[in-house]
Amino acid sequence: MALPESFIQELKLRNDITDVASSYVNLKRRGRNMVGLCPFHGEKTPSFNIYTENGSFYCFGCGIGGDVITFIMKIENLDYIDAVKFLAQRAGMNMPENTYDDSMSALRNKIYEANRQAARYYFKMLHTAQGINAMNYLRGRALSEKTIRHFGLGFAPEQRNSLCNHLKSLGFKDSEIVAANLAFKSKNGYGIYDRFSNRVMFPIIDLRGNVIAFGGRIMTDEKPKYLNTSDTPVFKKSANLFSLNNAKNTGKRTLILCEGYMDVIAVNQAGFENAVATLGTALTNEQAMLMKRYADEVIICYDADEAGQKATQRAIQILRNAGLLIRVLIIPNGKDPDEFIRNKGKNGPVAFANILEQSGNDVEYRFAKLKTIYDLRTSEGKINFLTEAVKILSTLDNSIEQDVYVSKLSKEAEVSKEAVLTQLQRVNFKKNKENAKKEFRQLQTNLNGRDDKINNQHYQKPRSTAAEEALIAYLVNNPDKGEKISKKISSDNFQTDFNRKLYEYFQQRIKNSLDPMLNVSGDFSSEEASKIIQIISSYSKSVSTEQAMNEYINTINEESRKLSKNEIEQASETELLEYIKNLKDKHK
Ligand code: GTP
Ligand code: MN
Repeated sequence: MALPESFIQELKLRNDITDVASSYVNLKRRGRNMVGLCPFHGEKTPSFNIYTENGSFYCFGCGIGGDVITFIMKIENLDYIDAVKFLAQRAGMNMPENTYDDSMSALRNKIYEANRQAARYYFKMLHTAQGINAMNYLRGRALSEKTIRHFGLGFAPEQRNSLCNHLKSLGFKDSEIVAANLAFKSKNGYGIYDRFSNRVMFPIIDLRGNVIAFGGRIMTDEKPKYLNTSDTPVFKKSANLFSLNNAKNTGKRTLILCEGYMDVIAVNQAGFENAVATLGTALTNEQAMLMKRYADEVIICYDADEAGQKATQRAIQILRNAGLLIRVLIIPNGKDPDEFIRNKGKNGPVAFANILEQSGNDVEYRFAKLKTIYDLRTSEGKINFLTEAVKILSTLDNSIEQDVYVSKLSKEAEVSKEAVLTQLQRVNFKKNKENAKKEFRQLQTNLNGRDDKINNQHYQKPRSTAAEEALIAYLVNNPDKGEKISKKISSDNFQTDFNRKLYEYFQQRIKNSLDPMLNVSGDFSSEEASKIIQIISSYSKSVSTEQAMNEYINTINEESRKLSKNEIEQASETELLEYIKNLKDKHK
């Protein structure tokens, strides 16, 4: 079952890709296209292109591309049908009835609903006699009733069937409860039992207000301290942040990045609603790109212990790559933000506001760390400090920023500015050379198709692949030539299966008078769609004459007559003689 083409056509007409994308990306016109900084990977110069004429996008930096539906799938983290629904709603259109496979979308909705009911149940249980320990635990951690309500905190009872029974009484099926990761199937195969038991529960809510997962903390010293929902059809740990739903509403464009749930909640209670945390894993690029959508600056506020400081160094790299400004908050006395704020006598919310105010940027933070390692009073310490500090400077790509720190460093270490600058230039030079080498190697691998993950025959058949791609692009851009092409070449002559599949697909659509590219996001996986856009967009600008078309066809036909190494090894003598004769005839 597929959505009617006419529906997709109207959907795309009413959701112009430039309009849709510009609410996520700052776009500028460049020739006939629009360009901007890619929302799917960190970059400083724009390689995200929108081709307005055919309603597609492609990023030359990360290779993601597709149509407006793919764009929404990627940026809103939705599957195909839900992305179509999203766009239909945006344009005020109704979804056609009974024409598409809704089962995945239906399951996702069930999971959202089960999670919502679970959150209500846990919240209710916290406020019963059973939840008294949990309530005391939260009070012991200085949380007010208002905060508990704001975050919808709850309690998962000890009995391993309490939530399951409750959800079943509401009509949820075992399979749905398991799919939500709220329960496990029991080992003997009969029945299910609760995933979370005797824990304080933290609901994780997405940007649309859906409960997508939970974190649960044990109230004793047992392990694991925290238990999180595993990935489900509605939840990807690495692509979500705790409390971003609250933080995005502050309108501040600054986020405070904490290590854990309790830190975020304590920081919130202290008056800063723009705090977020990762969900029990290290920070990912995806999460950094997500933050970039709501913030220009991130204040890293990790624990003062060694693990926290290591994680800070790592987070700095990831956030820098995403193009975010960074400040680093250092909590005195080896505490985490929650402990610092709770320590009312000495610290408390006001003191926290103060250290937040004073937090320096990431470069200053890294210099300060270096100073704890090297002794600036000795010559050796000075040299080592400067050498390391200059390495940090070379990672900054803003020359004004570099210059500011060159001055600072020279003052601090009492050496001339020229000396620091010379060293910086040396490091930069070496780095540029390495980068150029790397780029060249990347270009080589791209050209020979070694890392083509979609067309895995590219590497074996580079010449044919190039011609096949060029011909496909020509065909899509000149559908009126479809018949002519089909008379000159048979799809059997395509040497790579993926390109053959594409060729046949587009020819079929053209024969049926359908817009070739209209349904690419529905008919192919999103990785395949990216590849298709890459093919179409990289060849459309080059020669698109009929003469070029004939050359592509000749190349493919010629390649199809060549035997592969394998075939030569396995061919009989007569077969080989026949083959050589054919080649000779062709050259006459
Ligand atoms: P409290 O002890 O409740 O204050 O938590 P914390 O945030 O101080 O704990 P910690 O610094 O140990 O952990 C930070 C974050 O890492 C937590 O909020 C969890 O998201 C995650 N985490 C900690 N322990 C575990 C664990 O045992 N399993 C998993 N999956 N995640 C954990
Ligand atoms: Mn803590």
